[in-house]
Amino acid sequence: MFLQKSSNKINLFHLQKSSQKYLRVYRWNPFLYKKPWFNIYPISLNTCGPMILDALIQAKDLQDSTLTFRRSCREGICGSCSMNINGVNSLACLQPLNTKETFITIYPLPHMYIIKDLVPDLTHFYAQYKMIKPWLINKYVHSKNEYLQSKKDRAELDGLYECILCACCSASCPSYWWNHDKYLGPAVLLQAYRWILDSRDSNTDTRLKFLNHKMRLFRCHTIMNCSKTCPKNLNPGKAIASIKYKVSIL
Ligand code: SF4
Ligand code: SF4
Ligand code: FES
Repeated sequence: MFLQKSSNKINLFHLQKSSQKYLRVYRWNPFLYKKPWFNIYPISLNTCGPMILDALIQAKDLQDSTLTFRRSCREGICGSCSMNINGVNSLACLQPLNTKETFITIYPLPHMYIIKDLVPDLTHFYAQYKMIKPWLINKYVHSKNEYLQSKKDRAELDGLYECILCACCSASCPSYWWNHDKYLGPAVLLQAYRWILDSRDSNTDTRLKFLNHKMRLFRCHTIMNCSKTCPKNLNPGKAIASIKYKVSIL
């Protein structure tokens, strides 16, 4: 049975047991016409898998089927389970449950519109992704099979192609918080740089001209929250700096 924050006192005896964790989860349901609230779900390490996502799944399965969150691969590949865990944007499937904190506070990604509980509305994020034309454009080669690339050129994409579009970086960026309607944000800009650097793509100048805009690109003030938070250890801040340089020598 889950505990309502306001009505139930948590038994201190349980708090002292190191095998016991408490998920403190942000809840909101647009159909209930009430303010957001928190539920606290006790989770025993003895019966739960090792990751925060395992704990959320157990809470939903055994305590409260109304709890809503996204997940798919549980391997850090699909980017679905991004959320704010103890103040840091991350992937629930990559965050261990057994840390020194007894309480684990979970919010949806910050500064996003929320559909329900931990599920942000990523419609605008994906519309911005579409704006950078995230596909290969090559005016000169019309191959039905393969667009060949040297090993060296392929290696240029390391540190970029691994991005899983989880949006943890964009949701940690103050510039994106306040200007997400116009600023593309670190995730989309890192993806844009991935296509700019691709030796098989012939649309580089057009891509750079599109980005050469005071709001789309230059709203980045190099605060570097994005690179600090990326759960795949990528460096969107550096990619943005590289785009700015390429734009400056257009
Ligand atoms: S750069 Fe990192 S944090 Fe940003 S969307 Fe890609 S994987 Fe997620
Ligand atoms: S470096 Fe740029 S994109 Fe990254 S958090 Fe700072 S302002 Fe945002
Ligand atoms: S469930 Fe796919 S990244 Fe976490």
